[in-house]
Amino acid sequence: MILAAGQGTRMRSHVPKVLHKLAGRSLLEHVYQTASTLPHESISVVYGHGGGLVPDTLKHLQVNWVEQNQQLGTGHAVSQALPCVDDDDDVLILYGDVPLISTETLERLCSATATSGFALLTAVLDDPTGYGRIVRNRRGEVVRIVEQKDASEDERSIREINTGMMAVRGAWLKRWINGLDNKNKQGEYYLTDIVATAAREYVSIDCIHAHDLNEIIGVNDRVQLAQVETVYRRRQSERLMRDGVTLVDPDRFDLRGSLTAGIDNQIDINVVIEGDVRLGDNVRIGANCILRDVTIADDAEIQPNCIVEQTTIGRGCRIGPFARIRPETCLQDYVHIGNFVEVKKSTINSGSKVNHLSYIGDTEIGANVNVGAGTITCNYDGANKYKTIIEDDVFIGSDTQLIAPVRVASGATIGAGTTVTRDVESNTLAVGRAEQRSIKNWKRPKKQEH
Ligand code: UD1
Ligand code: CA
Repeated sequence: MILAAGQGTRMRSHVPKVLHKLAGRSLLEHVYQTASTLPHESISVVYGHGGGLVPDTLKHLQVNWVEQNQQLGTGHAVSQALPCVDDDDDVLILYGDVPLISTETLERLCSATATSGFALLTAVLDDPTGYGRIVRNRRGEVVRIVEQKDASEDERSIREINTGMMAVRGAWLKRWINGLDNKNKQGEYYLTDIVATAAREYVSIDCIHAHDLNEIIGVNDRVQLAQVETVYRRRQSERLMRDGVTLVDPDRFDLRGSLTAGIDNQIDINVVIEGDVRLGDNVRIGANCILRDVTIADDAEIQPNCIVEQTTIGRGCRIGPFARIRPETCLQDYVHIGNFVEVKKSTINSGSKVNHLSYIGDTEIGANVNVGAGTITCNYDGANKYKTIIEDDVFIGSDTQLIAPVRVASGATIGAGTTVTRDVESNTLAVGRAEQRSIKNWKRPKKQEH
């Protein structure tokens, strides 16, 4: 059960808090992702603030969406989801705004519950301000949780706090939740009050500690959002470096999706990885590149300042600097794409080069083709898009326009400055260029005197 109905006032946002993003995914998705790695029958999410925006945005999640119309407290939030709970279920309660909780910690929490029936995830903090405190009796047994606002001076000095996460047998949860009241400073139904009830019933309550305190950071404002982003980034960077990737500066590397990488890859500063990116071995990514859903084979090099999206890049390719490769592009092995080149929805076969200032769109280029500087495929007539086909071993002179649909057959040569409007046969030279004239003794215009 993931509680996610709170308003998140301190975010100061029109967007519900749990939809704010950490590493490119919403906070709630992070919690959902972790929850779904545990064995489970179903996942319920209690939403409320922001109306249907949360379920509408996250339609793809396999969850029971439960609406909490009014945010009357965490206990009330849980009560809304009780219809999804059977007596013999074990219920794990998580928060949609605590995104770094790990599978490993939750496994320990769940297995503690499997034996005792009730376990809390707690932590010992140097500064416990703001959290509910774990109150124990002289025998060290948990007797209740007291919220900061309701706590006495003595209770406030307790450093063991409630992270909010807990796991509890379904039948007990239902009974205890139904017995809650809201007689406290905040006038809310506190989920934490079930602890006192449990203790009165002599249920032994297990407390599990998270190994890493970062796991329990809750996001209440944008400062904490940046804090979890930093922790997340550092964790991902460390994993990659251990797996054999050199990060020139791990603090200036942004992983906002997933990156799978072989060994001896090098990633320079300010690289942003989004979606699903896969690198072979010995790939180099220069500074300031953005890669989104890209697969790059061994020994390829992306030079600085490139933007590459939904593209497959073969072995030994050299891209950039300053290249833009747009979706549905496939570059076979040893292709060169140079500066200020844009490629869209095109396939370029092995050993071909597009080195300077060109636009290649809706095009198939064969192997060992050389495309000269400033070549443009004119693929769009304002209404429809058409294909250009350039076969193997073609040489295209600089400043050529290819008016699609058009085919340049293998081994053909296009003279510089040609506008290709008709298909070009194999092994021919096509030139379409006005005859050069010379005007003798030409006088250049002079600046006018004022
Ligand atoms: C809660 C705990 C506190 C704990 C702290 C940890 C209670 C009474 N207190 O306090 O012991 O130390 O979390 O961060 O449980 N929510 C709803 N509906 C509601 C109210 C809250 O879905 O009506 C959700 C929020 O979206 C949030 C979570 O429950 O994800 C916690 O709510 P919040 O108001 O932040 O609880 P705290 O007062 O911080
Ligand atoms: Ca909170």
